[in-house]
Formats: sequence, structure tokens, C-alpha cells
Amino acid sequence: MKIAVFASGNGSNFQVIAEQFPVEFVFSDHRDAYVLERAKNLGVASYVFELKEFDNKTAYEEAIVKLLDEHQIDLVCLAGYMKIVGPTLLAAYEGRIINIHPAYLPEFPGAHGIEDAWNAGVDQSGVTIHWVDSGVDTGKVIKQVRVPRLEGDALETFETRIHEAEYKLYPEVLESLGVERK
Ligand code: GRF
Repeated sequence: MKIAVFASGNGSNFQVIAEQFPVEFVFSDHRDAYVLERAKNLGVASYVFELKEFDNKTAYEEAIVKLLDEHQIDLVCLAGYMKIVGPTLLAAYEGRIINIHPAYLPEFPGAHGIEDAWNAGVDQSGVTIHWVDSGVDTGKVIKQVRVPRLEGDALETFETRIHEAEYKLYPEVLESLGVERK
């Protein structure tokens, strides 16, 4: 089972995945994303297309689909990919794209799941991995875990605990979907 990871920025989830599973390539939509540095250090191939280099999002996603097809990718793992998956990519790969979200969906969807949960004053949030559909963080849940907000937590410590839960959950889910470890 061949996997590709999509990330827009830091890439710490990519790093955790790539240390445990063979990753065919990482794709980023930003040329200066730190994930590309991580890929280089780990010896993982990387590709970058920026949306602004194309006439429109359809053409951008057609290029992505071509890349996925050429590499015969079975599963696309979104990990901090900050774009909504559009109809072109979805038409070709729906059912083969998963995403990690740093909250317990359907609670706190969107780009600021950790801060939104924190600002709402919840006593627990969580992490979710789900199939990607045309909505924002609405697809069928594969697995999710709760992460408590502890007494004495600051946003930073809470955030660190959420990320630690992510680094455990992604490998568990990949294994459960039949991706073989290195
Ligand atoms: C993670 O918290 C992930 O859940 C969210 O974006 C963040 C990406 O972090 N979608 P990183 O790039 O993997 O470090």
C-alpha cells in the first residue's frame, strides 16, 4: 500500500509517519514549508506546486492527480495540508484520502481547532482522523481520542499534549488501514 503525505508547513506529523512507514513522497503547496527540509533529511521525495502557479484550482489539482496516478498512490494522508480538497482531487481520490484534525470532531472543525477548544474553556478536546469529503472536517471518522485539559495547563502545554496524541494516533490508523511499517 503506497502512501503520500500532504503538508503545508511544519510537517511534524509527516516526520512521525515517515520514521515508521515508507512514504512514497511528500507534497507541499508552499515552496518554503519546513516539511520539505524534513523530507530531505529523511530521504523522502518531495513535490511542490503552489496554487498561484496555475490558472485555477482545477488545474492545480489536475497536476496533483497526475502525480498521484504516476506514483500509483493508494492512500493520501493529509497532515497539516491547509487547503480544502476540491472537486477535482476528490473526484479522482475520494475514499483514499484521510485527514488529521486537532480536535474531537464534530467539535471545533476548521483551521484553529486547538485554540477554539481552548478559548471555549472545554475540559477535554481531542484528535480525530477521518475520511475526507467535500466538507470542512466533516468526513466519516476513522478513529479519535480524547485529550484532557489539565489543571495548570497553558495553551502551549495543552497544544503539546494534543500533538503528542496526534503522533500516536496517525501510526495506529495507518496500521489499521493496512499500511505496512518499515
Ligand atoms: C496538526 O495539528 C494537524 O492536526 C493540523 O495541522 C497541524 C499540522 O502540524 N491539521 P504539522 O505540520 O504536522 O507539524
